[in-house]
Amino acid sequence: MASKPSKSGFFVTGTDTEVGKTLISGALITQLKKQHAVVAGFKPVVAGMNLIDGKMCNEDLLALSSVMNYKTQEDFLDICPYQLLTPAAPHLVAKKANIRLDYEVMLNAFKKLREKSDAIVVEGVGGFKVPFHDGKTSADFAQDIGLPIVLVVGMRLGCINHALLTVEAIQSRGLRLAGWVANTVGPMTLLQENIATLEHLIPGPLLGVIPELPKELIQTPYSISAMEKAASYLKNIS
Ligand SMILES: Nc1ncnc2c1ncn2[C@@H]1O[C@H](COP(=O)(O)OP(=O)(O)OP(=O)(O)O)[C@@H](O)[C@H]1O
Ligand SMILES: [Mg+2]
Repeated sequence: MASKPSKSGFFVTGTDTEVGKTLISGALITQLKKQHAVVAGFKPVVAGMNLIDGKMCNEDLLALSSVMNYKTQEDFLDICPYQLLTPAAPHLVAKKANIRLDYEVMLNAFKKLREKSDAIVVEGVGGFKVPFHDGKTSADFAQDIGLPIVLVVGMRLGCINHALLTVEAIQSRGLRLAGWVANTVGPMTLLQENIATLEHLIPGPLLGVIPELPKELIQTPYSISAMEKAASYLKNIS
């Protein structure tokens, strides 16, 4: 059974990798900042670092740290204990680099950050069930931290199946689905009809429909204005 979180926050999962989890996590942080003094973002592991301003950085961590009002350490280890170089499945990258993705280290980092913040948004890794180590997955992590889940559906062909399977997995673990977000990652045939189908089939509220945002606004890492823009399409959450 999931433990009851003592503070506000969300675990943001997605129908896949590259569906807009970081954009929506940033949008949720933007909203939570209106109600809470210290809002932090967290990721248990990232895979993929780039040289930015002479420093190896991960783009998700740069985006989340720019919008949160919790002051992170310079190395971001307090918001992400495992930062792997290669953009690939984390357990495989870690294995190649002889790094053990210690589940307890991830949980303890999360707990520490939760102590220091009033609200916390955890961005999941890839889809809902991504392997870490010793049989543990990102779904176990979601269950152990017990935050309500926000599902980001990347609106593209195949997303209905992915969304419904993810909802089933969330429910089978006894987790609460706070709602879902339709994120328009690109042009989609019958977009409105797809959203209406998902509204009918997902047993949780639609928190917002994010349109395809203009290229000038969508940069890597996301700017604060991109995350604020996405937030403007979300219902008020708490
Ligand atoms: N609403 C949108 N409009 C236009 N482009 C978008 C939108 N949302 C996401 N994208 C594009 O999709 C890409 C992936 O988005 P994002 O990095 O937020 O996904 P993610 O689920 O966090 O990925 P990862 O699994 O790597 O963490 C972005 O680089 C961006 O170009
Ligand atoms: Mg991301």
